[in-house]
Amino acid sequence: MAEDSEQQDSAQLSISEQLSSDYHTVFRDKDLIEPDTIVDEDRIVGRDEQLTKVINVIKPALHGDQPEDMLLRGPSGTGKTLIAGTVATKAIKIAQERDIRMDFVEINGKHKKSEHEAIHQIVHEYELSLGLNLTSKAGVSTSSRYDRLFEIVNEHLDIGVIVLDELDLLVGDSRNNDEAPAFSDILYKLSRAKRIGKMDSTITLIVTTNSPNTLMSGLNSRTASTFNPTEVGFADYNAPELQEILNHRQDAFHEGTLEEEVIPYTAAIAAQGEGDARFAIDLLREAGNIANRREDQSVSTAHAEAAKNQVEKNYIIDVIENVSFQKQVSLFATAIVNSYGQEQLGRSEWLNERSAPAPVAHSLYKWFTEYNGIEQRSKHSFLRWMRELSTYEVIEINRKGRGNERGVFAEYVFHNLSADVMVETLADKDERFQATLDDDDNLVRETVRTHLSRF
Ligand SMILES: Nc1ncnc2c1ncn2[C@@H]1O[C@H](COP(=O)(O)OP(=O)(O)OP(=O)(O)O)[C@@H](O)[C@H]1O
Ligand SMILES: [Mg+2]
Repeated sequence: MAEDSEQQDSAQLSISEQLSSDYHTVFRDKDLIEPDTIVDEDRIVGRDEQLTKVINVIKPALHGDQPEDMLLRGPSGTGKTLIAGTVATKAIKIAQERDIRMDFVEINGKHKKSEHEAIHQIVHEYELSLGLNLTSKAGVSTSSRYDRLFEIVNEHLDIGVIVLDELDLLVGDSRNNDEAPAFSDILYKLSRAKRIGKMDSTITLIVTTNSPNTLMSGLNSRTASTFNPTEVGFADYNAPELQEILNHRQDAFHEGTLEEEVIPYTAAIAAQGEGDARFAIDLLREAGNIANRREDQSVSTAHAEAAKNQVEKNYIIDVIENVSFQKQVSLFATAIVNSYGQEQLGRSEWLNERSAPAPVAHSLYKWFTEYNGIEQRSKHSFLRWMRELSTYEVIEINRKGRGNERGVFAEYVFHNLSADVMVETLADKDERFQATLDDDDNLVRETVRTHLSRF
């Protein structure tokens, strides 16, 4: 009844009346808790040791000397990008006062498919920032892009700082095993340019990574000998630290709209997980969004609890969208086994509706790569990628027995995000997935059924 009368009320109001009616929001300045905001120094909590190290490395630039390259390493959301961005921004201000031409650009390896794309972005960012003509996106070779970069730095800057965020994720496309990943080539070319004195001006690299081992072991020997960064480590935050970080953002909300327990509660949830400040901030923002959607006057722990599911889902979707294509194919194959095989899985004694058995998932991987003419990698690689996806909590891996001495097998469980949503996400992301489903939905279904019944 209440809903009916609400609908009637709004039906009687004109569009303009509805648009201009009262708008209630719990946010005073939402920017403070948006993911990419580089906040002011007074909102940075702790991290003194890391700040000091980064400052000391950058400092020579302000005296006409060349700074070392840096590697900021540590888990997600521990302040690496924040510290790099804040120190670089402050350094540029001081450089300006001293007539030193300094500028910094930042690119994220997660969002770049190739070395070519990454260098284009760096050039583009410098061109924008320095007010230069923009190089077109198409028809320019990778090596001309490097030349353009060196030219820009030489002519317009004394020092160019390049932040290469999450660089380990920039592996490039369809590489075979013995080729070095794209990030190795980039580091080689950028760090070599300054060594061989090709330039009067200089480039300093600040690399951030969640997985320093992947990065350093992915460098081929020539890169390893030119790229020798000063390393700075960042550890997870504990609950009191996260609480402090959130306390310094409270004014994102109107006074009195954030109930007292929300920050401690949110900090505790984030600390139980990974100690990730981004997760804590995302939770707080999403809790506010939920309160707004429900037209509640204040944000409570119930909103934070609801936000948790939403934020976790978004994180998994983000991982799925950004892992390499081969990992996406492996996951797609696994997800269609569950999505199309639900009934059979539900009827089986040793399988369950939320899972897909690894041997069947691998058969579907082989089928999918053959059907689409995509490079097929070994079973060993498939299993390794699925293990990696389980460490990101995209899926869970269980060991199962079939009884009657018929052996054990691994099953992939869709614990945090359903297989259907994964199939949908991947189909949106890459047309090869969508095309297979569009081509012949029945063929996919039949293939899944056949492999499941043989298992
Ligand atoms: N010490 C801190 N004080 C205040 N805010 C912080 C602090 N550490 C992190 N944050 C905030 O947490 C969020 C995540 O931090 P940041 O982006 O720097 O993480 P990161 O280490 O670069 O993570 P990733 O490896 O995932 O890129 C940002 O919104 C940042 O402002
Ligand atoms: Mg970062």
